[in-house]
Amino acid sequence: MSRHDLKIIGGTVATSADTFVADVAVRDGKIAAVGGDLGEAERVIDATGKYVLPGGIEAHCHIEQESSSGLMTSDDYYSGSVSAAFGGNTCIVPFAAQHRGQSLAEVLDIYHHRAAPKSVIDYSFHLIISDPTDEVLNEELPRAIAGGITSFKIYMTYDRLIVDDGQMLDILAIAKKHGALTMIHAENNAMIKWMSRRLVNAGHGAPKFHALSHPRTAESEAINRAVALAGFIDAPILIVHVSTEAGARIIAKARYEGRKVFGETCPQYMFLDAERMDLPGMHGAKLCCSPPLRDRASQEEIWRCLQNGTFQVYSSDHAPYRFDETGKLNAGPKPDFPQIANGLPGIEMRLPLLFSEGFMKGRITLSHFVALAAGNVSQIYGLDHCKGSITRGRDADIAIWDPETSREVKAQDLHDNMDYTPYEGMQITGWPTTVLQRGRVVIDNNELQVDHGAGEFVPRRTIDSTGMPGRHAPELDPDQNFGVELGL
Ligand code: URP
Ligand code: ZN
Ligand code: ZN
Repeated sequence: MSRHDLKIIGGTVATSADTFVADVAVRDGKIAAVGGDLGEAERVIDATGKYVLPGGIEAHCHIEQESSSGLMTSDDYYSGSVSAAFGGNTCIVPFAAQHRGQSLAEVLDIYHHRAAPKSVIDYSFHLIISDPTDEVLNEELPRAIAGGITSFKIYMTYDRLIVDDGQMLDILAIAKKHGALTMIHAENNAMIKWMSRRLVNAGHGAPKFHALSHPRTAESEAINRAVALAGFIDAPILIVHVSTEAGARIIAKARYEGRKVFGETCPQYMFLDAERMDLPGMHGAKLCCSPPLRDRASQEEIWRCLQNGTFQVYSSDHAPYRFDETGKLNAGPKPDFPQIANGLPGIEMRLPLLFSEGFMKGRITLSHFVALAAGNVSQIYGLDHCKGSITRGRDADIAIWDPETSREVKAQDLHDNMDYTPYEGMQITGWPTTVLQRGRVVIDNNELQVDHGAGEFVPRRTIDSTGMPGRHAPELDPDQNFGVELGL
C-alpha cells in the first residue's frame, strides 16, 4: 500500500450518526480511510484525547456585503474566513446580495471577485433576490442554479428588500422547478414599521426599544404565511433565524404534515436576551439584530427546539458592524433604533458555544453537534458530495477539538474585524485546536497556516427534498382542475 499524505491517530471520530475511536487517513485532499491499521503516512497528527470532527459549515453569514442601504460589513472575505476557521469551520456560505436593478450575473461576478483572492477556506454563496424581474426569474436564476448556486434568500421585511406574496410565489416556483431551496427572512414588515413609528414618536428611540418594535407575532404571522405560500405549490423552504417558540411550532407542525420546510436558529437566541440591551448610552446598539433578542424563557424554548430537531440548521447570522461611525453608529452618534445597523458578530463563536454549552453540558450528543455544525447543512444545501462528514471520499475538511481547553471569551482574542463580541466574558470549554482543509493545515497551535485565497469556490448540487413527501394544492393538480397544466 502506498503511503498516505496524512494520518490522524487515536482520536474520537464523530459523524452525524456515530461516535467511535479510529484513525483517519488522508490522500490527495480526500478522506482515504477511517479505521485501524491504515498503513504509513508522510505526516501523523496525534489526536489522543481529542475529537476528530468534520469542519464546520457556516451557512448563514454576511461577509463583505453591502446592506440594502449601502453599509459594508466590517469583515471582508479575509477576516471573515479567518475568523470562521478559528471557530472550527472549513466552509462558509455567505450571501451575494442583489440590489434592485442589478442583474444576478453582475452580483455573482462582484462576490466571486471579493471572495477568490481573500477567502482562506472554501466557500459558496446564497443569492439574495430583491428584484425578481421576468429576466431574473426565467433566465438568470436557472443559470445561477446550473452554476451551483442552489439557494436564494428572500425577505418579507425591509423596504428595499421586501418581496410581496406574488413575487414570493414566482421565486418559489422557479426554485422548485430547478432544484433550489428558498431561505426566508420571515417578519411582518407592516407590524414592525407600525410599532417603530409609535415608539419613536413617543420618545422611545433608545436601542432597547428595537426589541419591542419586532413583536413575536410579526415573526409567527410571516412564518405562517411563508409556509402557506410554499405549501400551496409544494416548494421547499428554510425559515432562517427563528427566534420564537410560536415560529418554531409552525415549522414543527408543517414538517409533521410532510411539508418541505426546514428551520434555522442562531446562538443569539439561545445565549442572549433583550434585557441586556438596557445599557447606558448607545451600547445597546451592539445587540440590535432582526429578529431581535427575546427573553430568558424564549432561550429555553429555542434550546428545546434545537434538541428535538425542529431546527435542523444552527448558524451564526454573522452580520458584523463595529460600534462606531463605520457600523452601528453610521447614522450619527445617537440614532433612534430604526437607524441602527442590524446584526451581531458570531462566526467564530457559533461552534465553541454549542460545543461547550450543548455537548459538554450534556444537552446534545456529539453526533448531534456534528449534524448541527456541518452534516445537516451539507445535505440541505447540496454540499454532501464533498463536505460535512468524516467519510471515505469526502474532502478532508477536519476540525480537531480539545475538550480540555477552557478559555474566557474576549473580543481581542477573536479574529474578526470587530471591536466587541456579544459573548464577552463567557467561559467556554472545548475549542478547535487544529483545522484542516482538503488535508492541508489551516490552523494549528492558534496560528493561521495558509495565505489569502487558499479557499476555493464550491459549486453545490441541486436540492434533494426526498423524504419530505409534500403535495401541492388540489387547484394546481391537472387531475382535479379540468386538466389545466400550470407548469409546476
Ligand atoms: O439583524 C440581522 N440579522 N441582520 C442580518 C441580516 C439578516 O436579515 O439576516
Ligand atoms: Zn435575515
Ligand atoms: Zn442574516
